[in-house]
Amino acid sequence: MIGRVNHVAIAVPDVEAASATWQTSLGAECSQPQDLPEHGVRLVFVTAPNVKIELMEPLGEGSPIVSFLGRNPDGGIHHICYEVADILAARDQLVGTGARVLGDGTPRTGAHGNPVLFLHPKDFCGTLIELEEVSG
Ligand code: CO
Repeated sequence: MIGRVNHVAIAVPDVEAASATWQTSLGAECSQPQDLPEHGVRLVFVTAPNVKIELMEPLGEGSPIVSFLGRNPDGGIHHICYEVADILAARDQLVGTGARVLGDGTPRTGAHGNPVLFLHPKDFCGTLIELEEVSG
């Protein structure tokens, strides 16, 4: 069912500092920071040949990554996003296996403008999994 890994998201306390580290130490190409208030994050996209890396800092009250950073004050890998061709079919198949979908199970529009869902980390070895419907 799952396709390519679309991105790996890393929660960081300071996205400018993280971006500078990725550029200076790893020689990475990084985007300018982008505020996504509807997702409660400030993002930098790291260009890699085979997968996107997203560095994300909490933005605003009630950001969904505040509690994660409370447990991981230096930052850490927050989620892995897999592409699926049909997110509703993927959701129904997952629910059929007993996996839990976060929220009410209705896909939301993710950071790339595509429908996304998140799966409960307790069902996947402690890993938060995002599914993103990517056509084509
Ligand atoms: Co994501």
